Amino acid sequence: MIHYEFLVIGSGAAGLVYALEVANYGKVAVITKKTLSDCNSDYAQGGIAAVLDNLDSFENHIKDTLIAGAELGKIPVIKNIVQDGPNAIQYLIDKGTKFTLKNKNLDRSFENLSLTREGGHSQQRVAHAADSTGHEIMQALINACKENENIHIYENHIAVDLITQHHILQDEGFIPRITCWGAYVLDINNNIIKTIVANKTMLATGGASQVYLHNTNPEVATGDGIAMAKLAGARVANMEFVQFHPTAFHNSGTNPSQATSNTNTLYKKEKTFLVTEALRGEGAILRLRDGTPFMEKYHPRANLAPRDIVARAIDAEIKKRDDGYVYLDATVINHDKLKTHFPYIDKKCKKEGIDFTKDYIPVAPAAHYFCGGVLTTIDGITDIQNLFAAGEVACTGLHGANRLASNSLLEAVVIAYRAAKHPSNQEKVIFPDIPEWREIGTFNENEWVIIAHNREILKHTMQNYVGITRSRRLLKYAQNRIETIYREIDNFYHHNNIRKEVIETRNMAVIARLIVQSALLRKESRGLHYLLDYPGKNDNFYKKDTII
Ligand code: FUM
Repeated sequence: MIHYEFLVIGSGAAGLVYALEVANYGKVAVITKKTLSDCNSDYAQGGIAAVLDNLDSFENHIKDTLIAGAELGKIPVIKNIVQDGPNAIQYLIDKGTKFTLKNKNLDRSFENLSLTREGGHSQQRVAHAADSTGHEIMQALINACKENENIHIYENHIAVDLITQHHILQDEGFIPRITCWGAYVLDINNNIIKTIVANKTMLATGGASQVYLHNTNPEVATGDGIAMAKLAGARVANMEFVQFHPTAFHNSGTNPSQATSNTNTLYKKEKTFLVTEALRGEGAILRLRDGTPFMEKYHPRANLAPRDIVARAIDAEIKKRDDGYVYLDATVINHDKLKTHFPYIDKKCKKEGIDFTKDYIPVAPAAHYFCGGVLTTIDGITDIQNLFAAGEVACTGLHGANRLASNSLLEAVVIAYRAAKHPSNQEKVIFPDIPEWREIGTFNENEWVIIAHNREILKHTMQNYVGITRSRRLLKYAQNRIETIYREIDNFYHHNNIRKEVIETRNMAVIARLIVQSALLRKESRGLHYLLDYPGKNDNFYKKDTII
């Protein structure tokens, strides 16, 4: 048994900000499934939204966030987070983040930050580090954590389960105040389970887009934190609102000899990468395969419409024409600007044989971000005592039914910082007798297929039945399949000793169940949840969160 004052599960921006701040009060363990930088935050290209320009205002940013979220966002939460935006940027600069400047020879004052624009924003307000903002922020936070001797980093460690009364009481009857005392953690390389006991635990495991076959996320994004918290008794909210990024690179389109001409190409497993929305912010145009622009007919802001509208428009055009993708035309942007602002996209496109100053980029929507998650307050407090959550794993009420681009890093930094400053971090915690993890059985290689096979089926089912455009019939079919898959995996989990893939696949099945259950509860279309059976919004019944 290892004892820390604080345990942080996950090493994205939210986890590391919390770790850095609570390290002032005690020892912190940060566990991460791969390396510190294998997280969604590191993948963020566009940037972090904040009001930094004299022409902008908090009111504008609040309004844009609320409109993008289809009026489901919580106004007090939005206000607090938006108003903390400039402080969050200053915090990151102080930690060493080098945002792109307008004039390299001048200092890092807000006036000198280069600000870009993305879909749904009425102003230039996205601070960025070229097109690798998440990576730059993560490098600064990782360096700060490595220099802090109160922070101990456990790479290649995955949380198996939160330590709560469920592991302590034999009788699993009603438990009135579920409390967390740390987590059982699998050391992946050595196959041993460690008991890490902590006064406070921060869940910062990111999102779950790996439940979809076609997604922009790193492999680690399997929804572990949401699933663990749910299984331990926390409420989750708004799981039906899965954001599909409109423009993920589509590699069937790069080489004419590989190109296929039907929608099935969308649903084949392909290595993809995000093609940042900031390109459209700088003027890039979405075009059909014959070169015709099409966004004007979907929204007055055309290529800069909110993300849900752009993703749905592309999905509709792809399906209408039985094409696998559309094009993003960045050739219209000044070529020097393209090269200096988008070096990452330049490099990735070149690898695919595309010169984005001359060629169109083939793109299609892909699962990108979870607007729902573990229900928390503005301070990251969850239903479970001593357990905080921040970042994509959490649902604070900021995003409502659809996240405004680049609000996610902002939320991660603000909420993690607020959680760290919450007075409860310094409370004395009384621990019960905590047992070590009880290994059950051995590992049945023969039945490994249950995990490998079901993981694939789950991803295909979610992609094809629970995607951008939904119907209740398909959702119900998906629900039946997912129930069977969950039962098989859960049974395997309870009868074999633990492996990373088993934990992840079980978590993915929990997430899939929650998405479908939430989607079936919302009989309307709002934001990212588009239901063919109910194509309109119904404010009388559904202007509220879906809480499970
Ligand atoms: O398009 C992008 O760069 C993505 C931004 C975001 O997800 O906020």
